[in-house]
Amino acid sequence: MSTATSAIESVLVENRVFPPPATFAAQARIASMEQYQALCDEAERDYEGYWARLARENVVWSKPFTQVLDESNAPFFQWFADGELNASANCLDKHMGTPVEHKTAIIFEADGGEVTKVTYRELLERVSQFANGLKAHGVQKGDRVLIYMPMTIEGVVAMQACARIGATHSVVFGGFSAKAVQERIVDVGAVAVITSNYQMRGGKELPLKSIVDDALALGGCEAIKNVFVYERTPTACNLVAGRDKTFGELLQGQSKECAPVAVGAEHPLFILYTSGSTGKPKGVQHATGGYMLWAKQTVDWTFDMKDSDVFWCTADIGWITGHTYVAYGPLAAGATQIVFEGVPTFPNAGRFWQMIERHGCTIFYTAPTAIRSLIKAADSDAAVHPKNWDLSSLRLLGSVGEPINPEAWMWYHKHIGAERCPIVDTFWQTENGGHMITPLPGATPLVPGSCTLPLPGITAAIVDETGNDMANGAGGMLVVKKPWPSMIRNIWGDPERFKKSYFPEELGGKTYLAGDGAVRSVDRGYFRITGRIDDVLNVSGHRMGTMEIESALVSKTDLVAEAAVVGRPDDLTGEAICAFVVLKRPVPHGEEAKQLANELRNWVAKEIGPIAKPKDIRFGENLPKTRSGKIMRRLLRSIAKGEAITQDTSTLENPAILEQLAKTN
Ligand code: PRX
Repeated sequence: MSTATSAIESVLVENRVFPPPATFAAQARIASMEQYQALCDEAERDYEGYWARLARENVVWSKPFTQVLDESNAPFFQWFADGELNASANCLDKHMGTPVEHKTAIIFEADGGEVTKVTYRELLERVSQFANGLKAHGVQKGDRVLIYMPMTIEGVVAMQACARIGATHSVVFGGFSAKAVQERIVDVGAVAVITSNYQMRGGKELPLKSIVDDALALGGCEAIKNVFVYERTPTACNLVAGRDKTFGELLQGQSKECAPVAVGAEHPLFILYTSGSTGKPKGVQHATGGYMLWAKQTVDWTFDMKDSDVFWCTADIGWITGHTYVAYGPLAAGATQIVFEGVPTFPNAGRFWQMIERHGCTIFYTAPTAIRSLIKAADSDAAVHPKNWDLSSLRLLGSVGEPINPEAWMWYHKHIGAERCPIVDTFWQTENGGHMITPLPGATPLVPGSCTLPLPGITAAIVDETGNDMANGAGGMLVVKKPWPSMIRNIWGDPERFKKSYFPEELGGKTYLAGDGAVRSVDRGYFRITGRIDDVLNVSGHRMGTMEIESALVSKTDLVAEAAVVGRPDDLTGEAICAFVVLKRPVPHGEEAKQLANELRNWVAKEIGPIAKPKDIRFGENLPKTRSGKIMRRLLRSIAKGEAITQDTSTLENPAILEQLAKTN
């Protein structure tokens, strides 16, 4: 925590303010700052009463709760602990017999452009049949199931089917390697894997099942009894007799009715791995009741979801955004949503805009990296500029995953939103379950680059290292002072790490430490996130631990002696990964350096996944260290940025190394 405040940038001076358009406010659920304030006041007056009210209004309980917040074992907080529910029933069954039953739940557009639609009724039948198939193969309440699927209706069905029988899913993004899959299978103790033979991305057929095979061959996965394989493409894949079953075999003869299993509110709905500041990814455990409450409520508030909306969140189900705002939240709200298999640049960088037009999308939610890359494409090729498509169906835009720079915000506002659509810049994290700090589109005046104010009941604050509140304009650490229902419950199998990472003693042991720096504006008290204050990078909205990448590099023991990884700002991806590597051989130059850097990039792709490949790799005969042997990352960050070193280097053991590392090899 000691480096926290040094990483905070100065206050952004941003004078542009965009009040909610009157027409938007006129129809919005929360239509004024007075209404927002009234909810905040309600939460402040009676914190538990407020959350209990929302939990009753947003969740269908098969057994009503009588307890609200239990702090007796803090920071292992519990919410609605004696209540029972089923997450899948809250997304599907509850709509039966209502007008939503025959409404389109998912409009699926495949990579190649084919469109498939399912209604809520059909989705319920598919989920039920899948759930019956899982049960027939011995998967039970409390079991963990690893899902390694492409963006498809089947991916959502697999998640919902696990939830339906009370099995806890752990979805792994399709861009992770066999090693990463294996580590997660072992850590989570999975009994089954749900995967696909291939995935289609950008016109290419990419293997998934063979990666699962490789993962299982790495060992330690003896608990896996079944691998269920979706045949996404007609191309055959290896199937191991006895262990592997196609979806056809899984579903064969199974009824389309399956009673949802009621679970306690604290029952783990899912475990999702994310990067932390040490080498090993953390299994973030979420509870069913509190998570479902916030998934539904934030869809209604932040997206102001209406029956007529066509919602599109572009996130993959392998990330938290794809959990809360694809697999659960929109379904709980009875919305129609688009699920997209492909990539924004295939067959060209007009794909998103074309899809908005084609499906009449009204609410579009994506990441700043995607926006920046599409701005670049539109600037260089008029044929993919959004002006070529009719985007008039849009009424609301959203941003998530990383800070959105005001230039990208303005472009999004002008070219996609036609200066008519509010933009909700939603700040939150895997650990939070749902939105934390975000504008409410019918109420909050927007300031580009600011996620504005916490949602009612979210006690976000900015403090110094000892927990004192910072004045507006002074940067500090982002914390949440009180527990909230959709918060992380534990790090799977590692309660000590949970306490240390999120509830440090220095802050009293009950305050949630987000790991981000933030500052509130002097005039409005609006929050602006200034970036991570720990060893976590955000590359294209993907969270990567520097230590994780370092461990991958040094595991190439025949070549690498030592490695240090830092981030540097990147116009397109937000941050880029830079690795400083000491080899077990003389420092290479020219072609040899290039070739070794490539070899190491591929190695990291194999160890973690292509998303973790360092952009820059620099070789040196040593790393800058203090006399006690500590790597001076501060200096490496300056070198990576190409800055002159102005910091004091007198404590360095080997100052000459800076010059060597500053030169590219
Ligand atoms: O640094 C913050 C950044 O993304 C981190 C959380 O990453 P992850 O757990 O993968 O979840 C991403 C999607 C919810 C945060 O610690 N971040 C997320 N949203 C924003 C953001 N930074 C600035 N503005 C945001 N809107």
